Amino acid sequence: MNNLRNLRGTIDLLPEQLIKWQNVEKILLEQLSRASIKEIRTPLLEMTELFIRGIGEGTDVVSKEMYTFIDRGERSCTLRPEGTASVARALIQNGISSNPLQKLWYMGPMFRYERPQAGRQRQFHQLGVEFIGYESVRSDLDIIALAWDILGKLGIKELNLEINTLGDVNDRLNFQKSFLKWLENNKNSLDLDSQKRIHKNPLRILDSKNIQTKKVLENAPRLFDFLSEKSHERYSCLKRQLETLKIPFVENYNLVRGLDYYTHTAFEITSGALGSQATVCGGGRYDNLIKQMGGPNTPAIGFAIGLERLILLAGKDLEVVRNTDIYIINQGLIAESLAMNLSRKLRNYNLIVELDLSGASFSKQFKKANKLKSKSIIVIGDEEAANKEFLIRLFDRSGNENQEEIISFENDIKLEKWINNYLLAK
Ligand code: HAM
Repeated sequence: MNNLRNLRGTIDLLPEQLIKWQNVEKILLEQLSRASIKEIRTPLLEMTELFIRGIGEGTDVVSKEMYTFIDRGERSCTLRPEGTASVARALIQNGISSNPLQKLWYMGPMFRYERPQAGRQRQFHQLGVEFIGYESVRSDLDIIALAWDILGKLGIKELNLEINTLGDVNDRLNFQKSFLKWLENNKNSLDLDSQKRIHKNPLRILDSKNIQTKKVLENAPRLFDFLSEKSHERYSCLKRQLETLKIPFVENYNLVRGLDYYTHTAFEITSGALGSQATVCGGGRYDNLIKQMGGPNTPAIGFAIGLERLILLAGKDLEVVRNTDIYIINQGLIAESLAMNLSRKLRNYNLIVELDLSGASFSKQFKKANKLKSKSIIVIGDEEAANKEFLIRLFDRSGNENQEEIISFENDIKLEKWINNYLLAK
């Protein structure tokens, strides 16, 4: 048993840590529903082919990081490394034509076999948002503003928005021709991985993390210089509108994102507080993905926020738990069953009720109630059980007892009055 541990790159989230997660998730869900975005849930496990076709065979995610295995039915399956390809598949499969405009979100675990370090895990969580069927620059703006505002709502400061444009398919083909020529001429200065990619997927060389390759690439032709007038205009319009909305941004020509499906707008939001894994949110437009996967021509744009990184950035105020409203101390057989019934009744009033099931001495139960900072205590012992009544004690903010009342189990009106007073005082 001693040897059984979690897998490298995965973590247990314990109750104390989950307080912050739940508070953050609550704010996220509120923001999403205020923006009228609907939830979609897709399986964690998909056919491997979905990601090969959707994300691209030459990407690091597909070629090096996927958790892929053959199942008992001899099918190649993969634990999802991201959510966009799955959402596209689900929409095509469920008839996207009948609902061509959709704003969707998803939240859950993703899996990538990367080298674990602070802010980078093999099982991590994302909140993803996808605007399907939207083509206008306004939708780019809306999605970037949404990501920006979500992070702002969580009180996260000192964020940097980086943007770039990847143009359309033709822009990229034109660029690729000249980039290929340049790569062939500079082949020997590139790292081995990049050399292998020259004829497989040259654009991915732009993602290289190799310092030497990055340096050499500084002199390579730039995709930006191969954009059509239309693509230029689209990008300029986005920048103008971001300025109008007073969302600060910097342009980063090297921002190509690690997944093949992007077109036009690409963006990332980073924070210096995160160390080397600085990107908390990444996204962009993917106008060809749905068609390329067998669906109708459907433009789309989206982003995903890494929740582990978001939790690292979110403030300490989100670590606060709502205290127990009522702690029920009880001892004796009859008292226990009365306490059980009372706890169920009180929870119907949306109160947080902790029923002590320990059977320990009164003093131990009192200590536990104090430790939980319960705002009131109900006591049911043999005497109370025999009289069919209970004692309820309320504490003020500094923990001093300031009210005590005896209520009969049969007197619901008195109990309700007490609850109403309690809720008003809270
Ligand atoms: P991505 O840039 O691969 O984009 O991931 C988005 C975010 O997920 C990253 O910025 C980071 O915060 C988090 N993340 C990625 N890998 C890890 C990891 N190993 N450990 C911890 N956090 C991680 C996508 O996944 C696209 N599907 C986003 C998108 C949606 N584009 C359009 N729609």
